[in-house]
Amino acid sequence: MKHLLKLGDLSSTEINEILNLADQLKYELKNGIPHEVLKGQTLGMIFTKASTRTRVSFETGIYQLGGNGLFLSSADLQLGRGEPIKDTARVLGRYLNGIMIRTFKQSDVEELAEYSGIPVINGLTDYCHPCQVLADFMTIREIKGSLKGLKLCFIGDGNNMANSLIAGCIKTGMKIFVACPKNHMPDKNLCEEGKKANILTITDNPFEAAEKADVVYTDVWASMGQEKEAQQRAKDFKNFQVNAELMKKADKEAIVLHCLPAHRNEEITDEVLEKHAAEIFEEAENRLHAQKAVMVKLMKK
Ligand code: CP
Ligand code: NVA
Repeated sequence: MKHLLKLGDLSSTEINEILNLADQLKYELKNGIPHEVLKGQTLGMIFTKASTRTRVSFETGIYQLGGNGLFLSSADLQLGRGEPIKDTARVLGRYLNGIMIRTFKQSDVEELAEYSGIPVINGLTDYCHPCQVLADFMTIREIKGSLKGLKLCFIGDGNNMANSLIAGCIKTGMKIFVACPKNHMPDKNLCEEGKKANILTITDNPFEAAEKADVVYTDVWASMGQEKEAQQRAKDFKNFQVNAELMKKADKEAIVLHCLPAHRNEEITDEVLEKHAAEIFEEAENRLHAQKAVMVKLMKK
C-alpha cells in the first residue's frame, strides 16, 4: 500500500490491518502509551475545501505520532494561482514525507500521487471519502463486534459518502442498501461492482432500505461545491430524511452514523441525531485513530 486514494485500491486484508492498528493506537492514546513512530516526519495538508474534522484530526494525529503537520490552504499556495499539480507534487515531494489532500477532482489526487513520489492520502473528493469510511467501520466494529453480514442502509445523496461506503462494503462483506432519488445515484461503476459482489441494493424507497438495518447512515443533501443547488436538492431529497418514523423500520439495536457536518431537520432530525449522539461523536473521534493508522502504514520507515 503506497497511497490511500480510494478504498477500492486496498485489499480486504489491508483494510482489516488498518482497523486493527487504529484500535491499538486508540488504546495506546487512552492509556498514555507513547507511539511516536513518525518522529521527525512532516505531513503537508492541502485544502481546497473547508474542514473541521479532517484538518484537526490529521494535524493532531501527526503530532501525536511525533511528526509535524503543515496546513496548506490552496488559496495560499501557487496552486491557487495556476501552478500545475504535477509541478507542485514534484516540489512538495522533496520537502515532505506525506501529503493529505482535500479537493474536488479525484483525478487531481491521482496526479499528485503519480508525481510526488511520497504517500498521498485522499481527505475527500467529489468522488469519495475513504478516511471517513475507515473511521465509520472502526466505529461499527467497536459497537457491533464485527462487520461481515451486517446490514447498512444509506439514505440520501449518492455522492462521495455513498460511493466510499459501497466500496468499503465490497471489501468487508457488509450488505449495503442505498436509498436515493433516481437522479442522484452513486457512481455507475461502483453500483455495478457492488451488485456483482452481491452486497448492494439500490432503491428509491428509504423505508425499504431501512428495513431491519443494523446501521443507518446519512449525509448532507448539498455537498461542498453544490451550494447553489441547495434549494432544488431540498425538494429532491425531502422524502429521504432519517427521522423517528424511518428508525422504526430499522433493527431495535440499530446505530446511526453521520460523517458530519449535519444539517439538522434536513437529512436527519435533531431528535434522531441527539438520540444517537454517542455513536456519531465516537465516529468523529475515530477519524483521529483511523487516520493515524493510515499514516503509520504509509509513512513508517
Ligand atoms: N466528515 C468530515 O470530513 O468532516 P470535515 O468536513 O469537517 O473535515
Ligand atoms: N458529502 C459531503 C461530505 C462532508 C464530509 C461533502 O462532500 O460536502
